[in-house]
Amino acid sequence: MMSKFKLPRLSRKMIEENTVDYYRTAGGTRPDLRVVELDGRKIVVKDFKRSDFLFRVIVGPILIRREFGALRDLMGVEGIPQLVGKMDRYAVAIEHIPGTSLEHIEQGTLSNDFHTQLRRVLDDMHARGVAHCDLRSRGNVMLGDDGRPYVVDFAACVYRGRGINPFFKWLFGQFVLADNNAILRIKKRLSPDLLTPEETTELAKPLPFEIPARVIGENVRKITRKLLTKY
Ligand SMILES: Nc1ncnc2c1ncn2[C@@H]1O[C@H](COP(=O)(O)OP(=O)(O)OP(=O)(O)O)[C@@H](O)[C@H]1O
Ligand SMILES: [Mg+2]
Repeated sequence: MMSKFKLPRLSRKMIEENTVDYYRTAGGTRPDLRVVELDGRKIVVKDFKRSDFLFRVIVGPILIRREFGALRDLMGVEGIPQLVGKMDRYAVAIEHIPGTSLEHIEQGTLSNDFHTQLRRVLDDMHARGVAHCDLRSRGNVMLGDDGRPYVVDFAACVYRGRGINPFFKWLFGQFVLADNNAILRIKKRLSPDLLTPEETTELAKPLPFEIPARVIGENVRKITRKLLTKY
């Protein structure tokens, strides 16, 4: 298994000293998103070290562990940034994807191939036992400079796990459906002319388990934010 690969440990000092840019600086509940250059190679480091106290000590480490675990299970999947190394419990180091997130892409820009490939990325991801659960945010899908789709931000993901409990299997299946539905919505919004009649029919069907998936996907941070911070 790819996940057995030993990852290098990156020191915080090395990351801080080699930060060349920030996609976002930490504030309240949000992590720093550092762009770091190591040996001429760019990486992205999501870092809760400078977030609010409770986020730094409680929520951040949970989200970081979740994202690290997902990326480790997804190593080698095309369209998912590779895990670069281990850090501390506040931060995770990820391959930098040159490209643009879909929230900055205009309607009519994406090709049919892009959407087909995006669906393939999801199928591979689901086959490894990870459902993303936050693909309604278009910021979490990127158009790479290579023209290919990339999926980022696994903070809200769920794992299938190894259990054979039929309820959990069913539950995971619902999250898979929600992911697949979310990228159809992306296609509807950004490439409405490319939707097939089958996809239009699919989109018209209500999701059987839409509400819980959305609650987890979109509100994990909103809720914790409300509970744990002054803002
Ligand atoms: N590996 C990466 N390579 C290049 N850009 C990235 C990478 N990871 C994240 N980004 C950029 O940073 C943005 C935010 O990243 P991400 O969604 O992981 O953080 P977040 O803390 O969940 O932020 P948000 O709350 O805005 O979703 C993405 O929309 C993307 O544009
Ligand atoms: Mg995000």
